[in-house]
Amino acid sequence: MTAKVNVGLIGAGRIGRVHAENLAYRIPEVNFGAVADVFVEAAEKCATDFQIPSHYDDHRAILDNADIEAVVICSSTDTHAQFISEAAEAGKHIFCEKPIALDLAKIDQALNTVEQRGVKLQIGFNRRFDPNFKYVRDSVLAGKIGVPHLVHIFSRDPVPPPIDYVKVSGGIFMDMTIHDFDMARYLIGSEVEEIYATGGVMIDPAIGEAGDIDTAVVTLRYANGAIGTIDNSRKAVYGYDQRLEVFGSEGSLVAANNTPHNVVYNGPESVQSAKPLNFYLERYATAYLAEMKAFVEAIQQDTLPLVTGMDGRIPVVMALAAWKSYRENRPVKLSEIS
Ligand SMILES: NC(=O)c1ccc[n+]([C@@H]2O[C@H](COP(=O)([O-])OP(=O)(O)OC[C@H]3O[C@@H](n4cnc5c(N)ncnc54)[C@H](O)[C@@H]3O)[C@@H](O)[C@H]2O)c1
Repeated sequence: MTAKVNVGLIGAGRIGRVHAENLAYRIPEVNFGAVADVFVEAAEKCATDFQIPSHYDDHRAILDNADIEAVVICSSTDTHAQFISEAAEAGKHIFCEKPIALDLAKIDQALNTVEQRGVKLQIGFNRRFDPNFKYVRDSVLAGKIGVPHLVHIFSRDPVPPPIDYVKVSGGIFMDMTIHDFDMARYLIGSEVEEIYATGGVMIDPAIGEAGDIDTAVVTLRYANGAIGTIDNSRKAVYGYDQRLEVFGSEGSLVAANNTPHNVVYNGPESVQSAKPLNFYLERYATAYLAEMKAFVEAIQQDTLPLVTGMDGRIPVVMALAAWKSYRENRPVKLSEIS
């Protein structure tokens, strides 16, 4: 029998608590021993809610604990690169939420440390573990729709984030579209070479005043000749809209929204079905669990994690290209960025 993996969690906010619950109750291969958050009340509440033996206000307490083999980094984005480097120096395997950092120099420094120390690093691109999206990818790679020609990704939030969050998020392309950039690569197994991004402020002028946009369309040109679009909005009044299609020479694959139920009401005035699941915590619950199980399995089986550090870096390059394209109103090759 393979030994259990001792895990500590850094950052007990919204996504940290999702991973904490999974680590505590749904992954028997894990000993979940400690949680740290600079806001110690968050660490304490997380420890109480999920029966974690130790909690701290300093992440170093986890990194200095020789019994802990792996850390899950869910603190704010501006801490990720530093914590990855520190954890790698301490010899811990690392799961880190997206994005690694907002600039490439910091990312490269962190990835170098990971490589030098020979620890595993998995980035939190959870959508790869969504059963629908994975089915689409597997079918595309198996040749089911022939040669892929078009990729369409619709990704719209139900409500915009708070303005204070917008200000430090790196903007829509770095914060929101970054998941879609990852999906774009993942779905057809080809790299994107060129990006053209357009967008505007259509939902809340305060988002524009914070230097961001809330609505965007990105077109993608792939190395294998395929063309893609990403369609983003920060506010879809009907809920979290997460759909995609890959169209090819022999057909297409369409992933529709997940709904709380699939009952259709037929009445004299209308035909109605359920709205999409509310937001990412509900929509991707299965994917969050699957990605953490995969991380633990990669440690136990000593295999390469399914989302590597380079998989974390490339969508940041794509986000930087999208901002450049938007500002300069022209297609931008990724080679101009990295
Ligand atoms: N993959 C996904 O679907 C997904 C979803 C949400 C958030 N995220 C990412 O996860 C990260 C956290 O997002 P969130 O929404 O949970 O934010 P959040 O603000 O709810 O939580 C962040 C937590 O980190 C703590 N923190 C900040 N600095 C710290 C430090 N130096 N040491 C220890 N703890 C520290 C904060 O006190 C807070 O409790 C972000 O990078 C975000 O991009 C990913």
